[in-house]
Amino acid sequence: MRILITGSNGMIGRNIIKLLSKKKNKIYCLDLNQNTLKNYKLKYIQCDLLNFSKLISKTSKMRFDTIIHLAGFLGVEKSTISELECIETNLQGTVNVMKLSKLTKTKQIIYASSSEVYGDILKKPFKETDACAPKSAYGVSKLAAETYMRAFCKKNKLNFKIIRYFNVYGQYQRKDFVIPKFIDLIKKNKPLKIYGSGKQIRSYCHVFDAAAATIKVLKKGKKNNIYNVGNNSEPISLKNLVNVLKKNTPKKINFSLVPFQKSDRSKEREIFFRIPNLDKIKSHTGYLPQISLERGLKNLLND
Ligand SMILES: NC(=O)c1ccc[n+]([C@@H]2O[C@H](COP(=O)([O-])OP(=O)(O)OC[C@H]3O[C@@H](n4cnc5c(N)ncnc54)[C@H](O)[C@@H]3O)[C@@H](O)[C@H]2O)c1
Repeated sequence: MRILITGSNGMIGRNIIKLLSKKKNKIYCLDLNQNTLKNYKLKYIQCDLLNFSKLISKTSKMRFDTIIHLAGFLGVEKSTISELECIETNLQGTVNVMKLSKLTKTKQIIYASSSEVYGDILKKPFKETDACAPKSAYGVSKLAAETYMRAFCKKNKLNFKIIRYFNVYGQYQRKDFVIPKFIDLIKKNKPLKIYGSGKQIRSYCHVFDAAAATIKVLKKGKKNNIYNVGNNSEPISLKNLVNVLKKNTPKKINFSLVPFQKSDRSKEREIFFRIPNLDKIKSHTGYLPQISLERGLKNLLND
């Protein structure tokens, strides 16, 4: 298969490349930055997705069977400070990818959306058919991109699959996300800060599982469907996440609770309970998460 991956140099992109490279796939990597994976046979396209003329000049003569569109603007702090930049990157970037998919006669497009599209809806865990009520510019941008993609695909008779990732963590993650931030501070013997009461519930998904789920959706997912991707087997509060880290390191960990008003996020933006319903992806593709939270954290602590 000829597969174009946008955002290929990010955490999820690099882990997908590692899995796809095991089979006879031709992988085209598009990112702002040169891909840092060594010893893989990849074709690099260094380009800003928002620069449409450059994008077309570099790729329009290529042909792809699938585009996995991961490139995006993410991170609570970043997307709160730069709301318009976030919306532009995620929406305009998707508009450009969709136009490219038509030009390159691509058969299917897989889009990396987010659990943030659900917001704080009352019905839990979140199911793909639940109404969406995003609370942040990031969530709005992801839902807008999903909606545009669906309309574009219907009009142009293309196939899409949308993945809503839930709290992915693991190797290559940027340090502004909670798990790599905490692990970095622990390694430097510095105290941790938990925003709010620490009772916020998350279910973290190791990036190996997220990447494997993406490939399952690519191969076995039904066309024009939305899939939650995550790991719902170990929902955990932020305070207990710190306890699991404590259990798995000889280092002393100190933490303090910091009120939202003194943090990088407002209470109104926070989502207090986030767990995916995974029935659909399990029944359509056979996906089952493999990596326990303790094993994933232990690997990162020992890295
Ligand atoms: N990590 C998570 O927990 C999570 C959860 C929900 C959704 N997602 C979505 O999954 C996708 C991948 O996430 P990730 O964790 O790998 O993120 P990441 O930040 O590690 O990687 C994103 C990549 O996109 C590239 N990129 C950004 N803007 C670009 C542009 N204009 N042109 C070309 N490349 C550009 C960056 O250089 C980076 O390599 C994102 O769209 C994100 O919104 C991630």
